[in-house]
Amino acid sequence: MALCDLPELTLLLLLLPLLARLSAGDCPCSEAALCRPIRHHPDFEVFIFDVGQKTWKSYDWSQITTVAAFGKYDPELLCYAHSKGARVVLKGDVSLKDIIDPTFRASWIAQKVNLAKTQYMDGINIDIEQEVSCSSPEYEALTALVKETTECFHLEIEGSQVTFDVAWSPKGIDKRCYNYTAIADACDFLFVMSYDEQSQIWSECIAAANAPYNQTLTGYADYIKMGISPKKLVMGVPWYGYDYICLNLSKGDICTIAKVPFRGAPCSDAAGHQVPYKVIMKQVNTSVSGSRWNKDQQAPYYNYKDPAGRFHQVWYDNPQSISLKAAYVKHYGLRGIGMWNANCLDYSDGSLAREQTEEMWGALKPRLG
Ligand SMILES: *[C@@H]1O[C@H](CO)[C@@H](O)[C@H](O)[C@H]1NC(C)=O
Ligand SMILES: *[C@@H]1O[C@H](CO)[C@@H](O)[C@H](O)[C@H]1NC(C)=O
Ligand SMILES: *[C@@H]1O[C@H](CO)[C@@H](O)[C@H](O)[C@H]1NC(C)=O
Ligand SMILES: *[C@@H]1O[C@H](CO)[C@@H](O)[C@H](O)[C@H]1NC(C)=O
Repeated sequence: MALCDLPELTLLLLLLPLLARLSAGDCPCSEAALCRPIRHHPDFEVFIFDVGQKTWKSYDWSQITTVAAFGKYDPELLCYAHSKGARVVLKGDVSLKDIIDPTFRASWIAQKVNLAKTQYMDGINIDIEQEVSCSSPEYEALTALVKETTECFHLEIEGSQVTFDVAWSPKGIDKRCYNYTAIADACDFLFVMSYDEQSQIWSECIAAANAPYNQTLTGYADYIKMGISPKKLVMGVPWYGYDYICLNLSKGDICTIAKVPFRGAPCSDAAGHQVPYKVIMKQVNTSVSGSRWNKDQQAPYYNYKDPAGRFHQVWYDNPQSISLKAAYVKHYGLRGIGMWNANCLDYSDGSLAREQTEEMWGALKPRLG
């Protein structure tokens, strides 16, 4: 078995777990067939992130094509996903300083391929959100990492998928300078994180939507203008919002926020904290304002007062704002849609929770016409 181009030492290191697996033959699924990697390539991707526990049992499996497993490895999830024809992929995160060394890269990749094989998984989602400057060795090394990872996975695991997470825009967000076109060419597709779009606020320090409609679309237009095919882009939408404390809340619902700098910008969403959709849904009706719709940002928000008497403003995404973005996915022929993260909804038994959760999954489906 050729494990791509491995240095000999790495190969030796790999032998132990490989032998262990061969001797164990420990497929965790009820049928051996469920341990085979998924080979089918769907026309439309619904790429979801799962962060653990058992909420996956209530996901809408009629839609899911890939689960990026960012929680603890769950063989039960693996078998179930495979029974539904969905891939389960590893999380890939590595220090950029280390990957400048080609030998380190090769052994990192070999280790990931080996882990994926041992766990009967279908690929990897590379999630690196570190700073990279344009003329650094890391810039070149990152492209090489993606290329080598893809080559190695494709060679070693038939039908496997390698994807890479990028910010909502290619324009130097959070001081991340990547060779986007080369990275897109080097992997199966990019997952565009169309959220945290206030991570760097350069204008007035006020609370705003996590993923405003226009700002989100500008990001895709910029990726496509660079020459990246829409078929290489999966849109990531947020299933969480931001709760900001307002230093002042004006009549026009302008919520002034504390100045918390981030990577060179004077203000950022770090002034607030992230809240999952299920928590938002429990709070919105008892808030001071109830849900309101901001037309400029095409997003809902509400204001509430905390026990200490301070006003907060919460910005989030709901089926209405997500449907608008899903319509863009369809219209521009993007590869698919997904979310961070699938665990954010209320999967408990109540009929209201069930309805809200169904609507959120439903909003991912591009409408016909
Ligand atoms: C990006 O990578 C491609 C392919 O390796 C290369 O041709 C191109 O010059 C790179 N672009 C930049 C701006 O570094
Ligand atoms: C705070 O909000 C109030 C009420 O809208 C407004 O009258 C006042 O000018 C604001 N103060 C500051 C410092 O922006
Ligand atoms: C909140 O209000 C909306 C609209 O009036 C209603 O449909 C929903 O059931 C309410 N949610 C809760 C948790 O009471
Ligand atoms: C959003 O984009 C549309 C189309 O380009 C434009 O007409 C509209 O004014 C924009 N809205 C905002 C708030 O920027």
